[in-house]
Amino acid sequence: MASSRGSLDYRGKIILAPMVRIGALPKRLLALEYGADLVYSEEIIDFKILKCKRVENVLLGTTDFVLRDGTAVFRTCTKEKGKVVFQMGTANAQRALKAAKMVEGDVAAVDVNMGCPKDFSIHAGMGAALLTQPEKIKEILTTLVNGLSIPVTCKIRILPTVEETVKLAKLIESTGVAALAVHGRTKEQRPRHENQNHFIKAVAEALTIPVIANGGSKNHIRKYEDIEWFRLETGADSVMIARTAEWNTSVFRKEGMLPTDEVIKAYLKIAIDYNNNMTNTKYTVQQYLHENLNSPVGEAVMQAELMRDLCAPWGLVEYLEETEQKRRERAETLIQTMAD
Ligand code: FNR
Repeated sequence: MASSRGSLDYRGKIILAPMVRIGALPKRLLALEYGADLVYSEEIIDFKILKCKRVENVLLGTTDFVLRDGTAVFRTCTKEKGKVVFQMGTANAQRALKAAKMVEGDVAAVDVNMGCPKDFSIHAGMGAALLTQPEKIKEILTTLVNGLSIPVTCKIRILPTVEETVKLAKLIESTGVAALAVHGRTKEQRPRHENQNHFIKAVAEALTIPVIANGGSKNHIRKYEDIEWFRLETGADSVMIARTAEWNTSVFRKEGMLPTDEVIKAYLKIAIDYNNNMTNTKYTVQQYLHENLNSPVGEAVMQAELMRDLCAPWGLVEYLEETEQKRRERAETLIQTMAD
């Protein structure tokens, strides 16, 4: 059996799940600050990262993967070094390896998304489309495991029966991946359907590599103590959380959850520090407020066009202005130094 190289301990971990748009740098840093052990990036399609250039952003102290128009597709920094997992969408082994090679030196591991049920993924042969293509799975994962110096993992949804799911999980294990994350719903099931915890348990019993349980938000994981309950219920080694962390990232706090307002304020400060783009910041704040979008604060957020509009309800306009001023001064110093 090939074995995934590099080392990352996937046992006993609490993990921020990959979430499109939500899992950008500020959210990941906040999750780590509150106690998450590992954080996954949002899914990034191999084609997209291949169009990017790697840039050291001296102004922000980040490493950015940037499109020609200046859009940062993936931004990381030393604070999450050794803890950030780059999740990729792919349908092609060689392209996946080329894309993973680009970020290999900047991330702790690479994960392949084999669970996305969205049309754009399935039509491109990615995400959950892979679940029924064992040869393709083998090719992609073996190529990554053999070609990378960091661990490779993947995230799946369950198949219709326990037997099929265990068979798939064993095939994945045989490729040498370092761990397997299992979301306990089929690709047809929606969040309202009960997570099939016993499927995850059967996989955890059948494999020797660490299994990461996922799908517990809302029904099972509402606070920190529930995380261990979900781990025991699924017999898994670790737990990965998406929606509960989307709505209140302080679920990772051992000391207990904080009020949403406090969490949004902490999130916004990091978004300001790392100059996170307005659209993404606004979307993330909207998700925090998902049940309260009709409130006056919710209305203000929905109508916000500038960062300062978004920062105002949390009293962060001054912080925003000071940070931007310091950044301008630093930029001028850097330009001056380069000119000298
Ligand atoms: C997701 N999910 C997801 N999964 C994945 O592998 N890659 C991704 O980029 C995304 N994007 C994403 C965005 C948003 C907004 C949500 C809510 C979910 C699925 C997610 O990682 C997880 O598998 C499910 O949400 C089930 O876990 P929870 O929510 O019950 O903890």
